[in-house]
Amino acid sequence: MRKVGVIRSSFDPITESTIQYALKLRKDKQLDGIVFEVNEEGILSKKEREGLLKYAIKPYRKLLLKKKKEDQIIYQEDYIQKDEKEVQQGQFYKAAHGIKRKLLGEGYYLKEILYHHCKESRARHSEAVAKVCVELAKEHHVDEKKAWMMGMLHDITKNKEDSYQEALIKKYHPEILDYSPKVWHSYTAPHFLKTELGIQDQGILKAIENHTLGRGHSKLDYILYIADKCEPTRGYDASKEIKLSKENLRKGFELVMKEAEEYRNREE
Ligand SMILES: [Fe+2]
Ligand SMILES: [Fe+2]
Repeated sequence: MRKVGVIRSSFDPITESTIQYALKLRKDKQLDGIVFEVNEEGILSKKEREGLLKYAIKPYRKLLLKKKKEDQIIYQEDYIQKDEKEVQQGQFYKAAHGIKRKLLGEGYYLKEILYHHCKESRARHSEAVAKVCVELAKEHHVDEKKAWMMGMLHDITKNKEDSYQEALIKKYHPEILDYSPKVWHSYTAPHFLKTELGIQDQGILKAIENHTLGRGHSKLDYILYIADKCEPTRGYDASKEIKLSKENLRKGFELVMKEAEEYRNREE
């Protein structure tokens, strides 16, 4: 008969510190295994959280998802994961090692991350951009998940203080230090996304870097640039631009770019 301990929590998602806690608990209490039991409430569905748990405990023989009828429960605990909120806000490096790539791959918690780091109006703009990105991606056979992700996250550092932006620009992109601070966020966002979320996809990172100046020439670059300018919450009719972009992405990009330039000149 196995002697097991049960840890109940939301595991939303399972974090690395919890894995370590469970391993230590098993040893200290000399148990044959620790069973993780998922609570009802969470941002992700119970099924999604159990799916993540499965990945997270894969390397460990003595961490379990289900108890057997004949198991003897020696110990149980309602456990609150200390760093769960932080993972939900984008510190994916605190998630259990086995699930980091899964979190990114599925696009989990992107909305929570967005609303945590941005003002509400900025977050709403980003959601609208993501929608247009997906629309254009569909039309041009581009990975829709990537398109959605870059739309959601392209302005993620825009509401951070100038001092944060400036320090990063000085260190990693001194060549644009003389540019308007309005441009900085497109260069600091990829850094943030790499270090916090662990995003490695160069297509996404480059498109985000290029979204203000419009210097990129990949499909993702064009899509994000167009979507950022043409999303509906900006409040003007961009149906002509969207229609052209669906027919011919490069031509759509050139039109939006030209109009943005004209607008800037008028403003000046
Ligand atoms: Fe932006
Ligand atoms: Fe934007």
